[in-house]
Amino acid sequence: MHQDIERTLFSEAEIAHAVSGLGDRIDAHFGATQLCVLAVLKGSCVFLADLIRRLPQSLELQFAQASSYRDGTHSGELEFSFFPSEADLVGRDILIVDDILDTGRTMARIVARCEDAGASSVRTCVLLDKPARRQVEMDADWKAFKIEDLFVVGYGLDFAGRYRNLPYIGCLRAEIVAAGPDGHGTPHASPGEETAHA
Ligand code: IMP
Ligand code: MG
Repeated sequence: MHQDIERTLFSEAEIAHAVSGLGDRIDAHFGATQLCVLAVLKGSCVFLADLIRRLPQSLELQFAQASSYRDGTHSGELEFSFFPSEADLVGRDILIVDDILDTGRTMARIVARCEDAGASSVRTCVLLDKPARRQVEMDADWKAFKIEDLFVVGYGLDFAGRYRNLPYIGCLRAEIVAAGPDGHGTPHASPGEETAHA
């Protein structure tokens, strides 16, 4: 796995330092508020585990999973394979946690669904922000790192379902990306445009 990485963007130590700083800022904002943390699977799982252990306030966890289909048939529609019920969100102070803000479409939809469900407040937190890729107006309240328009893996982020368990964040070697999701050169537009992501 490590041999597929061209370069490290953020080391384990840099990530740990940044996540700890995020925890402090989020704690300072919410104080004693009883939080509902809504994590977006699967990419946020490693970040989530580290972040919530830096939050001293009482909190509950909820999970959502979204997939986007970017082929001709679905033209980028988002589908949720699961999402908390309205009863779990109404009147709650929600902190949405995702791995990366890319086009912004996933986060924008989740924020809207929480507001529609009657959340009392909705805030957002991401590990990475790729502002150059934004397609909708969306910014996160808290983010650890801004990056250029690069496809990254590790610390929860995947390419074709793999590399989530890398402890650092890095870029894949070009030949791994060119070999495609099945490793056999099946054509695909770009790593960010696989049929479905999570
Ligand atoms: P958005 O709706 O385009 O903002 O999509 C965000 C989702 O796309 C993230 O939660 C990731 O699952 C996936 N994604 C976007 N960029 C990357 C990347 O560089 N590496 C891995 N996954 C990515
Ligand atoms: Mg994701």
